[in-house]
Amino acid sequence: MPLKLFDHKQIILGVTGGIAAYKAAMVCSRLVQAGAMVEVVMTESAQRFITPLTFQALTHRPVRTDLFDLSGDNIPHIALADKADLLLIAPATANTIAKLAHGLADNLLLAIALATPAPILLAPAMETDMWQHPITQANVERLRQLVKQINIIGPATGRLASGGTGAGRMVEPEEIIGLAGTILARHGDLAGWDIVVTAGGTREAIDPVRFISNHSSGKMGYAIATAARDRGAKVTLITTAALPDPFGLKIIKVNSAEQMKEAVLVATRQADVLIMAAAVADFRPQVVAEQKIKKQSHTESLALNLIRNPDILAEVAKQKADGHGPRMTIGFAAETEELLANAQLKLANKKLDLIVANDVTATDAGFGVDTNRVTLLAADGSIEELPLMSKQAVAEAILDKL
Ligand code: PMT
Repeated sequence: MPLKLFDHKQIILGVTGGIAAYKAAMVCSRLVQAGAMVEVVMTESAQRFITPLTFQALTHRPVRTDLFDLSGDNIPHIALADKADLLLIAPATANTIAKLAHGLADNLLLAIALATPAPILLAPAMETDMWQHPITQANVERLRQLVKQINIIGPATGRLASGGTGAGRMVEPEEIIGLAGTILARHGDLAGWDIVVTAGGTREAIDPVRFISNHSSGKMGYAIATAARDRGAKVTLITTAALPDPFGLKIIKVNSAEQMKEAVLVATRQADVLIMAAAVADFRPQVVAEQKIKKQSHTESLALNLIRNPDILAEVAKQKADGHGPRMTIGFAAETEELLANAQLKLANKKLDLIVANDVTATDAGFGVDTNRVTLLAADGSIEELPLMSKQAVAEAILDKL
């Protein structure tokens, strides 16, 4: 879940009358957990599927249901429409989509939708025949054409309430939250930036079933990539890690240092920033056995001859010298001794703008864990020692430097 993105954001969650309304409770809960201020507005038919009490319990706020209830604000639909950072309608029924497309405002939610300058995200949910009906399709098209701030996610294809299978299922809450985040991030401080991040430890093949690698889980790189996405950047994540794919990133899966190098050189030709959080193997087996190496053929010992891998950051520096490459390059230094001295050397040798010095001997920092303790050393000589933090917070601190 993004750390800052939803913090104090005013999100109006519109719930309309479909069976997927129960999933709106999950969407609501996730948004609240992420720090958003969620105001739930329900249509009359939504209340037949799920009660306002559920949302009130989740948001700790009264749920709005009535266009003419003036007990809170003077003109509730205008007050809500004005303060919203995002209007999310999930589920959005065929009926609500049709009314929105024709500017009807006969309930509080529709009146807000008509009045708000905020981005609107619709998550349609209905039976396949209703979704595929030419009128619904025309309404969706009309909304896309006429309402510049509209975004539509789904519907997905899958099992429907009728028991049938087809297009019309509301997309899963995680995906809705992901897109909601991306929409909010369009106004972030890294909007318009193109950032390439690497994550995980490279795997250098010995034979078809074995490889040499290291303890990198990819968590640090993923934290940076998702934080950059949440601040509005277009992010390419080049990764070896087996973590779930975050929403809204371009993800390139690689194994070896050689593959990572190729992917990085292509991705950074037009990028603004490269952040190399991956733990890249400096050496790889000279020969990769075509078949699985059998222990019978090596009774006492087995020697592997290792050769140098390319230094990806050095290759990027060369590409940059030729006029193609990121404006800024950030590396990490995973060290077990002489942390700052070694990091300074890498900063200079790899021609970096910033290096994140990482003492990987501490059990609560470095490989695998959710926390990290780093020192940021910049090319201008400035040094900033950070305390033990979550990897998300370290990611934010690195991006603040940009
Ligand atoms: O993935 P996690 O479990 O969250 O762990 C995070 C981490 C410990 C892997 C991360 O915080 C970290 O320190 N990553 C860099 C690890 C590393 O390879 O450091 P290094 O000192 O060997 O390399 C210095 C820099 O050169 C790194 O940015 C590295 O990506 C880069 N490099 C290294 C070798 C090589 N052949 N090419 C490179 O570009």
